[in-house]
Amino acid sequence: MKCFLYAHFLCLCLLFSLEKSYGFEGRKIAENHHSHTIEVSSLLPSTACKSPNKVLSNNDTKASLKVVHKHGPCSTLNQDKTIAAPTDTEILLQDQSRVKSIHSRLSNPKTLGANEVKVIDATTIPASIGSGSYIVTVGLGTPQKQLSLIFDTGSDITWTQCQPCARSCYKQKEQIFDPSQSTSYTNISCSSPVCSSLTSATGNTPGCASSTCVYGIKYVDSSFSKGFFGAEKLTLTPTDAFSNIYFGCGQDNQGDFGGSAGLLGLGRDKLSVVSQTAQKYNKIFSYCLPSSSSSTGFLTFGGSASKNAKFTPLSTISTGPSFYGLDFTAISVGGTKLAISASVFSTAGAIIDSGTTITWLPPAAYSALRASFRKLMSNYPLTSAVSILDTCYDFSSYSTISVPKIGFFFSSGIEVDIDATGILYWSSKSQVCLAFAGNSNATDLLVFGNFQQKTLEVFYDGSAGKVGFAPGGCS
Ligand SMILES: *[C@@H]1O[C@H](CO)[C@@H](O)[C@H](O)[C@H]1NC(C)=O
Ligand SMILES: *[C@@H]1O[C@H](CO)[C@@H](O)[C@H](O)[C@H]1NC(C)=O
Ligand SMILES: *[C@@H]1O[C@H](CO)[C@@H](O)[C@H](O)[C@H]1NC(C)=O
Repeated sequence: MKCFLYAHFLCLCLLFSLEKSYGFEGRKIAENHHSHTIEVSSLLPSTACKSPNKVLSNNDTKASLKVVHKHGPCSTLNQDKTIAAPTDTEILLQDQSRVKSIHSRLSNPKTLGANEVKVIDATTIPASIGSGSYIVTVGLGTPQKQLSLIFDTGSDITWTQCQPCARSCYKQKEQIFDPSQSTSYTNISCSSPVCSSLTSATGNTPGCASSTCVYGIKYVDSSFSKGFFGAEKLTLTPTDAFSNIYFGCGQDNQGDFGGSAGLLGLGRDKLSVVSQTAQKYNKIFSYCLPSSSSSTGFLTFGGSASKNAKFTPLSTISTGPSFYGLDFTAISVGGTKLAISASVFSTAGAIIDSGTTITWLPPAAYSALRASFRKLMSNYPLTSAVSILDTCYDFSSYSTISVPKIGFFFSSGIEVDIDATGILYWSSKSQVCLAFAGNSNATDLLVFGNFQQKTLEVFYDGSAGKVGFAPGGCS
């Protein structure tokens, strides 16, 4: 859409922001050991969904779901564009809030009050975490209803909006789940031990209404879901169904969930779907986030990693019960390891998160990365910042650009190359920014965000305690 030509017409700009897709195409025309060469025209966001041109075929007993970006053209949930997509600034500020809440959640672990069972007032629930960006579709209930849920490795509880929406439901594309129309739904009672386990899964003490357990979870952008805690049949693929999966049946829901029906929690806590399906999948799942919001990726439960996957152990530094911790050891830019003391990474600790957008580095690591990146990009004109992204370039007079490669090193000794599409955040042709930010405190956790995970197959093995990465998992 060419409406930037008419930028002074406010309405067209509004249209532009609605149709904009997130992440650029980043078609690579060449690559060497140290840099990626990218066509600038390919940075323009596409407004149409392309079908994926590479599908992983694997004979394992895998249960694979298609992954789409919450606000992109491959999501069928908001095609009438009735929900305005957030602007770059909104996305980045939401991301900053999510990371702040991850930091505070880890530095102030919630203390458990004895018998704190009451009805939850959603407005007083402390914010826990942002709601993530990628969507999959699963089946719930008997007969099963298709529901599109945001998946999030940084949170645990799975919930969907439920009839009769006693307090409030936000607008969703699919029919709102009605537990009274399902023969497999059961309420969880307040006295059930599984009700108490909501405290660690949500960070909030459960409530109780007419002896039914009440959950509540709040996300950073003042989104929340609150309702009855139930058990239901969850169908992940035609062959893989699970009875009595605990989930939240939301009666009071609010926020930007991209028209989706709720959230699929893939954290490490025992109430996550990963833990609840462990008997079958052994806490193994993998995903590939597409290179842009106009293509699709996958989320797979069970199975094995690609042969070329490189593994590193989950960290033993405590990152709380939900998060997947990793031990970073170094970062390279343009093929050279940055001179960052290993203690910078060990002091901060690190997690990988599907729901945080950009990667948030310890301050010393970010300044080293930025200095090296700016030096290698000194041929290109720097321009003003986009929100928290402070290293932005004006590419309006270039047809191709050369961008230094960036690699992450982990404690097992592996190096993971970030895909070309995971380095620069496209705001406009005259503002393309390094998609990293610095934490404000050296003790704050490093967060490996989803922007840098694009096209990697990321393989989680919660039983063996390791995470693997393979390039070219999807396009
Ligand atoms: C997949 O399984 C089928 C039958 O089990 C077998 O014939 C085929 O060789 C397998 N393909 C691969 C790529 O392993
Ligand atoms: C679940 O509990 C709520 C609150 O007590 C009640 O309104 C609802 O009818 C119950 N649903 C089922 C299927 O028992
Ligand atoms: C950084 O975080 C630590 C631990 O949370 C805190 O004690 C310290 O005051 C913080 N430093 C700054 C400059 O905010």
